[in-house]
Amino acid sequence: MSDTSEVIAYCPGSFDPITNGHLDIIERAAQLFDRVIIGVALIAEKTHLFSPEERLAMCREACAHLPNVTVRTFEGLLVEAVHQAGARIIIKGLRQAADLSHEAPMATMNRSLRPEIETLFLLASPTYAFISSSLIKWVCSMGGDVSAQVPPGVAPKLTQRLAEAAP
Ligand code: PNS
Repeated sequence: MSDTSEVIAYCPGSFDPITNGHLDIIERAAQLFDRVIIGVALIAEKTHLFSPEERLAMCREACAHLPNVTVRTFEGLLVEAVHQAGARIIIKGLRQAADLSHEAPMATMNRSLRPEIETLFLLASPTYAFISSSLIKWVCSMGGDVSAQVPPGVAPKLTQRLAEAAP
């Protein structure tokens, strides 16, 4: 049951896989809001390394120490998932200026679809300003150690999956 006085923030993403950069934003959001919901996006057109269940499980494991954070999947329009979750705030992390160019049209469109829902941006901590799931997968696929960039448990799964996927 959701308490209407609670302020709930929704953190959406592909999380393929979750990185320490994502976790930094989630931990900071968890300090700011009563509850944080992580929405793992199911997007049929996108190719992912990990299945939705695997991405969900890695997010849950990474956030197990955060009592006010829950993880779920969503399909279709983000703003509808946010509305159905009882949230009115979307949290996005910004690493560099290029992220804003990518995020601004989506935030504007989302606001025109549901004006009551605001997108708030948190600036990435400097340590994580250049981390992305894509970069981590690329480096790991060539044998690089990415264990400092992802939550414990993710690096072995990445190594195993990329080895399975290798030609
Ligand atoms: O981690 P990502 O891949 O950058 O996350 C992108 C995501 C899932 C947040 C974005 O693709 C999204 O919001 N998808 C849901 C579909 C939607 O609402 N599209 C219209 C946005 S204006």
